[in-house]
Amino acid sequence: MNEMLRTFMDEQIPLIESELTRQLAKADIPDVLHESMTYSVEAGGKRIRPLLLLAVLHDLNSTSADAFTVAASVEFIHTYSLIHDDLPCMDDDDFRRGKPTNHTVFGVDVATLAGDAMQTLAFQALADLRATDSSDALELVGLLAKASGAQGMVKGQVLDMKGEQQLLPLEELEEVHIHKTGALLSYCIEAGAVLAHATEEQRTQLRRFSKNIGLAFQIQDDILDVTATTEQLGKPANSDTTSGKSTYPSLLGIDGARAQLTMRHEEALDALQSIGLENSVLRSLADYIIERNM
Ligand code: IPE
Ligand code: IPE
Ligand code: MG
Ligand code: MG
Ligand code: MG
Repeated sequence: MNEMLRTFMDEQIPLIESELTRQLAKADIPDVLHESMTYSVEAGGKRIRPLLLLAVLHDLNSTSADAFTVAASVEFIHTYSLIHDDLPCMDDDDFRRGKPTNHTVFGVDVATLAGDAMQTLAFQALADLRATDSSDALELVGLLAKASGAQGMVKGQVLDMKGEQQLLPLEELEEVHIHKTGALLSYCIEAGAVLAHATEEQRTQLRRFSKNIGLAFQIQDDILDVTATTEQLGKPANSDTTSGKSTYPSLLGIDGARAQLTMRHEEALDALQSIGLENSVLRSLADYIIERNM
């Protein structure tokens, strides 16, 4: 990772994490639920989604007093999706962010409810925004609902389940990835653009950027599943192989998956270049997304 990104992360991640804690403390939540929610939120994670949102504001020379609240809100949605993704009825994984998964510690019942509660907490945070025009806040609510629900991440998770024990054609696998992972990553870029009052041209190119980087993110996740260790990932390696998932490496082999990754990365950089952001934090995040080893 380059120096610019290291500095950006060192500055922003502690602020993202204190906002997550503040949001959890603000809500009046029963003890066991609070403990379960805090467990997964404070287990860590790369915080890529909040970082992407904050990077858009940074790179467009804009600020918003609500930026960290909006950034924390999407991290709640993401963390809920991980808790549910790991459940026995889904990927059935017992390790996440370097710790036993939420349901192995708190039980399937509490873990399911912790995910449910995080999801609504995310929307509550958007409803409570104070520094943002209400029309912009409403746009964020609509975009987040679309990105995370039946037209977005949840749709992708359903398609992902259907892709178990049978190899999907590449176009269908792309659909899975665009929805289960790409939709929420794209939301982050779009939300940053809303808060920054980006121009139409910037928004169009940022959408092209995020579509490609969203796919690249999940291609690299698939590659790491078969090339990295459980220790490195903080989640079980070979989970996709165990459950017979359709993935980029299972369809195209590692080299074929890497070629797709490079192609998506180049297209993403091209989009940034067209709006003068070739040396931006977003550029560094795009590089990090394809080079990361966890
Ligand atoms: C994992 O996401 C799930 C996917 C969508 C691939 P991340 O790799 O961002 O997980 P954390 O937040 O760093 O734990
Ligand atoms: C997960 O995809 C996507 C969501 C959580 C919505 P994966 O199932 O590949 O994520 P990991 O590998 O368990 O993090
Ligand atoms: Mg999954
Ligand atoms: Mg999984
Ligand atoms: Mg995976």
